[in-house]
Amino acid sequence: MNQEQWTTVDDYFSRTLVPSDEALDATLKASAEAGLPSINVAPNQGKLLHLLARISNARRILEIDTLGGYSTIWLARALRSDGKLISLELNAEYAGLARKNIEAAGLSQQVTVVVGAATQSLQKLVDDKAEPFDLVFIDADKENNAEHLRLSLLLSRPGTVIIGDNVVRKGRVADEDVNDPDVLGVRKCFELASSDPRLDTTAVQTVGAKGWDGFSITVVSAG
Ligand code: DHB
Ligand code: MG
Repeated sequence: MNQEQWTTVDDYFSRTLVPSDEALDATLKASAEAGLPSINVAPNQGKLLHLLARISNARRILEIDTLGGYSTIWLARALRSDGKLISLELNAEYAGLARKNIEAAGLSQQVTVVVGAATQSLQKLVDDKAEPFDLVFIDADKENNAEHLRLSLLLSRPGTVIIGDNVVRKGRVADEDVNDPDVLGVRKCFELASSDPRLDTTAVQTVGAKGWDGFSITVVSAG
């Protein structure tokens, strides 16, 4: 099995099941033109996030890492018109571009992009006693994943679904010789997930256009 085959199958799924659409295409194009790292979720993964948000009947979604807004748009489209998505982005330029993409997708009413370090933005939501979120998507800044999970829990209720992106990192997560900060961050996240009685978590590996990686999924309970 190789990357070419994984990409071929992903392209087939996307072509068949995930119809392309102007707002999403424009978001990817604008992101590439602005030189953003091309680490967006793949189209079929974006739709997975969308479906998970619908399955959990999410009214309030929290996203950690906006990038150009591609996954944001997928997630926000699962909301009713009175739903809300807050997306956190460190880079002000990325956030500006994401806001434009989100506006063009007709979702600016529901989506707020907050600029700043995610840990600080999360702490501010906690301090402001933000209403709990129904679904949280933890992406990017892997080094601080565990801290993001800890803070997300303070913004959760029993039943909140927490999805983690990039938990496999080409198998590096389980390679004892790898102790890079991003991998340590993912492992710390899993330690927290397995030791906190309020958290039920699993993780799955994925292959596809983005290579070999995976997602984790957690449901929060009263504990
Ligand atoms: C990287 C980050 C991501 O969020 C992703 O989905 C893929 C790769 C990275 O930093 O390499
Ligand atoms: Mg990611």
